[in-house]
Amino acid sequence: MVVAAAEMLRKAKEGKYAVAQININNLEWAKSVLQVVEELQSPIILGVSEGAGKYMAGYKTVVGMVNGMLEELKITVPVALHLDHGSYEHCYKCIEAGFKSVMFDGSHYPIEENIAKTRELVEVCHSKGISLEAEVGSIGGEEDGVVGLGECADPDECKRIADLGVDFLAAGIGNIHGKYPANWPGLRFDVLEAVKAKVGELPLVLHGGTGIPDDMIQKAISLGVAKINVNTECQLVFAEATRKYIESGKDLEGKGFDPRKLLAPGAEAIKAKVREKLTLFGSVGKA
Ligand code: 13P
Repeated sequence: MVVAAAEMLRKAKEGKYAVAQININNLEWAKSVLQVVEELQSPIILGVSEGAGKYMAGYKTVVGMVNGMLEELKITVPVALHLDHGSYEHCYKCIEAGFKSVMFDGSHYPIEENIAKTRELVEVCHSKGISLEAEVGSIGGEEDGVVGLGECADPDECKRIADLGVDFLAAGIGNIHGKYPANWPGLRFDVLEAVKAKVGELPLVLHGGTGIPDDMIQKAISLGVAKINVNTECQLVFAEATRKYIESGKDLEGKGFDPRKLLAPGAEAIKAKVREKLTLFGSVGKA
């Protein structure tokens, strides 16, 4: 069964490594990630965006699929299933569907409203043994072809959210979702240190893990980041492997039209990417 993420992140913070949140989009994605984490004995967080949840037929389907895989693939490492950037309404939908971890992204609300909604969700989640991630300082990214630079969180606002008892906190430090533009100035470690000084031992989350140079990732972990989210990078390798397979043409002549064969190269590409990330984040052998 999927577990809450709070304990794995507490251990990661203490052990100075980070747990990967790999977002899943379909059965092949989830199965590939689970096979790799079992092989490498690493804890993992499977992220589900609202869009991916809808695509996979709804949150109950996702919970059923992942819990089924944990049993039938005989997965022994801790696996959390986590709503990514959840709205207030979708946090409740996931709680009802059996998620043990959710992110409430109230960063677009005025801070008082973010605090009020986060406070309520902390109470509800903790009464049910569910972990809660909150966000301060929105994480930018590509919108309508325009890439915005990441916003930086206000350390005092981070403290106010941290004091509500959230289990981990996503604080914007110049990180963005998707590919980083050529003129990206890099992560704001000064902001990360200022946030850390205010929130103490609370594990911090780094979103937008795609394309951040390895040395910046390692520095972020050394400064208290205990969870790193990766999505676009897996999508890119999946798409590229699938494209190559289709372009090779020959496989489609024989049995290659079998969807299980068609999706296999993408699944293998995800496995390779996840192995690379778990090694970089230092979570191998930490289950
Ligand atoms: P990337 O898509 O940039 O890897 O970011 C993933 C993420 O932060 C999901 O919340």
